[in-house]
Amino acid sequence: MANVEFAYELGEPTLRQINLSISAGEAVSILGANGCGKSTLLKILAGLISPNAGSFFAFAEEVNRKNLATDAFAKRYHQQIGFIFQDSDVQLFCNSVREELAFGLLQLDYSLEEINYRIEDIVKLLGIESLINKVPYKLSGGEKKKVAIAAVLLLNPQVLILDEPTNALDPKTQHWLVELLKQLNAAGKTLIITTHNLHLVEQLTTRGILFNEQHQIVADLPIVELLAEQELLRQVNLIF
Ligand SMILES: Nc1ncnc2c1ncn2[C@@H]1O[C@H](COP(=O)(O)OP(=O)(O)O)[C@@H](O)[C@H]1O
Ligand SMILES: [Mg+2]
Repeated sequence: MANVEFAYELGEPTLRQINLSISAGEAVSILGANGCGKSTLLKILAGLISPNAGSFFAFAEEVNRKNLATDAFAKRYHQQIGFIFQDSDVQLFCNSVREELAFGLLQLDYSLEEINYRIEDIVKLLGIESLINKVPYKLSGGEKKKVAIAAVLLLNPQVLILDEPTNALDPKTQHWLVELLKQLNAAGKTLIITTHNLHLVEQLTTRGILFNEQHQIVADLPIVELLAEQELLRQVNLIF
């Protein structure tokens, strides 16, 4: 994306002059203090909102309001990019986990047989067999996160975008998630994550993009180099 600007309302911009390019297969962390614009950037990358200025291309096509308003484009784009919301509650809306998992595939016109087969597979991979007939909103935070991840992985997106994925997860589930994401990245999926967990950042990603509190990118470096910039991390209030 080039020279991207975004503001939710007239007034304060939430993203200023964003220039970045992410290649297929990369594992990238987006870092910065609360309110710097990380989630907003992820939503633009996921095609959920569009920049007010500048340009954004993905998979050799421009991603803008006009294209996203076209059903065929939007369907294709949202299938290629899986977005895991920070708050699983906004992602889960069906009456059972099975329905939740089937939802995206039904939209893509898969046969019921294929859908059931894929659900069996993903449920085993994520170890959520016991949740399949439960009501999503009654699950624990960690269980909801697993269901949200399963729903996204079922569509087999090339890019996975995760907004603070380990928040509200117990240490064991965090560890499980890191291992899963590592495997997915090793299998070729592009990962883009935000988190305040610098340990996770180091384990999982090879590149870090750092925002300051003025909504600008101030560093885009190999993760080891970025984490060594203690003074810079302090300046942007990521660490104290
Ligand atoms: N839907 C929204 N409407 C208006 N302002 C918003 C909305 N979402 C976020 N903001 C504001 O935009 C700024 C950046 O938010 P966000 O991208 O969520 O930051 P981060 O994820 O880095 O904490 C904050 O000042 C936030 O209050
Ligand atoms: Mg956020």
